[in-house]
Amino acid sequence: MGKTQIAANLAIALAQAGKSTVVVDLDLGGSNLHSHLGLPNRHAGLGDYLRARTADLKDLLVETSVDGLRFIPGG
Ligand SMILES: Nc1ncnc2c1ncn2[C@@H]1O[C@H](COP(=O)(O)OP(=O)(O)O)[C@@H](O)[C@H]1O
Ligand SMILES: [Mg+2]
Repeated sequence: MGKTQIAANLAIALAQAGKSTVVVDLDLGGSNLHSHLGLPNRHAGLGDYLRARTADLKDLLVETSVDGLRFIPGG
């Protein structure tokens, strides 16, 4: 309860403190970190990468509305 929300807020706080930050959604069965970051769901995520290596890992990075914060979806 609130784990993903805490992860999202910690990532936002680190980025706002000037740290270049990447937050990764590892909840592959029910990933919803994107919604906590105000982002739409995306098809390419860590699950796709692990299952089929369909993408280069760095191509999974999604820019967020917070300066210095990027995100890797779970899906
Ligand atoms: N995008 C969002 N913005 C605000 N609250 C959210 C959002 N998504 C989920 N919540 C709510 O935040 C609470 C904690 O959710 P979450 O952190 O995803 O739980 P979990 O511990 O399962 O990861 C839940 O009550 C959920 O309804
Ligand atoms: Mg969660």
